[in-house]
Amino acid sequence: MQREMTYGYIDAINGNMISVVFEGNVIQNEVGYVLSQKERLKAEVIKIGKNKAYMQVFESTKGLKVGDKVEFSGEMLSVQLGPGLLGQIFDGLQNPLPKIAQQFGFFLQRGLSVEALDSNKKWHFTPLDEVNKTRVYKGYPLGYVKEGIFNHFIMVPFTLNDEYTVEYIAPEGDYTIKDTIARLRNSRNEEIELNMVFTWPVKIPLQAYKEKYIPKEPLVTRTRIIDTFFPIAKGGTYCIPGPFGAGKTVLQQIISRYAEVDIVVIAACGERAGEVVETLRKFPELPDPRTSRPLMERTVIVCNTSSMPVAAREASVYTAVTIGEYYRQMGLDVLLLADSTSRWAQAMREVSGRLEEIPGEEAYPAYLGSRIAEFYERAGVIKLPWGDKKGSLTIGGTVSPAGGNFEEPVTQATLKVVGAFHGLSRERADARRFPSLHPLESWSKYPSFVPAELVNQAKDILSKGNEVAQMMKVVGEEGTSLDDFVVYLKSEFLDNVYLQQNAFHPVDAATPRERQIYTFNKVVKVLNTSFKFSDKNEAREFFYKLRHRFIDWNYTEWGSDNFQRQEKEIEEFIHSKIK
Ligand SMILES: Nc1ncnc2c1ncn2[C@@H]1O[C@H](COP(=O)(O)OP(=O)(O)OP(=O)(O)O)[C@@H](O)[C@H]1O
Ligand SMILES: [Mg+2]
Repeated sequence: MQREMTYGYIDAINGNMISVVFEGNVIQNEVGYVLSQKERLKAEVIKIGKNKAYMQVFESTKGLKVGDKVEFSGEMLSVQLGPGLLGQIFDGLQNPLPKIAQQFGFFLQRGLSVEALDSNKKWHFTPLDEVNKTRVYKGYPLGYVKEGIFNHFIMVPFTLNDEYTVEYIAPEGDYTIKDTIARLRNSRNEEIELNMVFTWPVKIPLQAYKEKYIPKEPLVTRTRIIDTFFPIAKGGTYCIPGPFGAGKTVLQQIISRYAEVDIVVIAACGERAGEVVETLRKFPELPDPRTSRPLMERTVIVCNTSSMPVAAREASVYTAVTIGEYYRQMGLDVLLLADSTSRWAQAMREVSGRLEEIPGEEAYPAYLGSRIAEFYERAGVIKLPWGDKKGSLTIGGTVSPAGGNFEEPVTQATLKVVGAFHGLSRERADARRFPSLHPLESWSKYPSFVPAELVNQAKDILSKGNEVAQMMKVVGEEGTSLDDFVVYLKSEFLDNVYLQQNAFHPVDAATPRERQIYTFNKVVKVLNTSFKFSDKNEAREFFYKLRHRFIDWNYTEWGSDNFQRQEKEIEEFIHSKIK
């Protein structure tokens, strides 16, 4: 974008919102800087009136005055894309937090910014020689560098919309992200020099693909209740609404560790600074269960706390999703976890309130639903612009509705667009039945790798068992028939040995696909068996023992000698009670 610099002056200040009178051109979502004494405060245009721009400042506006000068950059809020994103912890504006901590103490001082990517680090670049002198388009790879365990493709920037001939490609060697690695010629015969980094406006989807597919292939999380009952698909979307303390964050952490994806991007929009700081402290030390290398090597964290200004909080989910889309363009499977999207929606509400827009439900802006939809629509399975490869970006967001009321606008707007709903339940969390997904209220539109017929049989037992449990509350155990009581025991058995999973047990924490198929078959067999019990006590005792044997079995390494021995014992035990 090239135009003459536009300037303006602050006309009014309302919290983080300023209105600026300007002359010249200003565009929606353009970034500007307030020039106040010695500082340059970053701000974004969120509404344009006649010669007046409403801007939200990404930092504290303390000390700003009416009349302060504002410089418009002509560019939208953007992130840097290139090697070196993995392993980083950024704030919503892509300032690397650990580096800031080193240089300035934990949080960034007002008016300062730090480069997102290290421009001194050398990367070993390998060119794709076959592209030399050929035609390329945006998204085409020119070469790659090794970033952790991945080939990080250096692609024709997505901002270049023409057709290009590769005039020069750098020989294999070590380069910084600012060194020239290629020269392209466009259709007007102009030369363009490329290095390994470019910027992209976060609020615009990065859509350099040929085709987008319907998500079908399961994304294996290794959490049984999810994969078997309420599956997620690669490129799909899901939401985890749950009341305060119901286990949303722990569930997201388990998934970020064990899900079978290449890269995880975490957008932590925490309520409390403490929660986010804890993630930052703990996460980098965790080992990747598959490679034993640090998990952080394939993770990017974008984080904000409520102590950061509203505009930065609002930006963080966009920064995260843009980074996710970028790695998808390399043919990788990316999972974006946003925790919690309610904080993001609240940031939107604050901004809208200051703009004095006509409020919708619960004072959220009328466009809440469309913003949420646009965000989740950035997920998907794509066909890359080159070769036959696919890449996927899956988005999962937690929602924290006040009082656990799922009727509120953020949960409702999210439910309209996602493909799976993992509703967490207060009662289950209080009873320490984790993961606390509600087995009767949750749903998924994606296919499971376990046959639907078996899943339906299990769901049927769960809902019948629930009916018996409700009835027993009224008529007591004495008033319940033995048959009904056995149905109840079966549903409890299913819950205890399959739906619940111990996140802190080294084996039970993650159940691979084959093991789920295998164990679930066994469990459903038990559910379908007619047992010979003379009374309720005998039935209770049998299921009590069976449950313990199954849980021990869950804790045993898959395929080991012990695994087979315990399985045999379970079979024999079941057999002893068959009619
Ligand atoms: N899978 C689990 N296994 C064992 N304990 C769990 C599990 N999930 C949650 N918990 C317990 O519940 C507590 C609260 O969980 P968590 O912080 O994830 O809730 P939350 O829904 O994110 O809460 P908030 O609304 O405050 O963000 C945890 O500190 C932990 O003790
Ligand atoms: Mg939480």
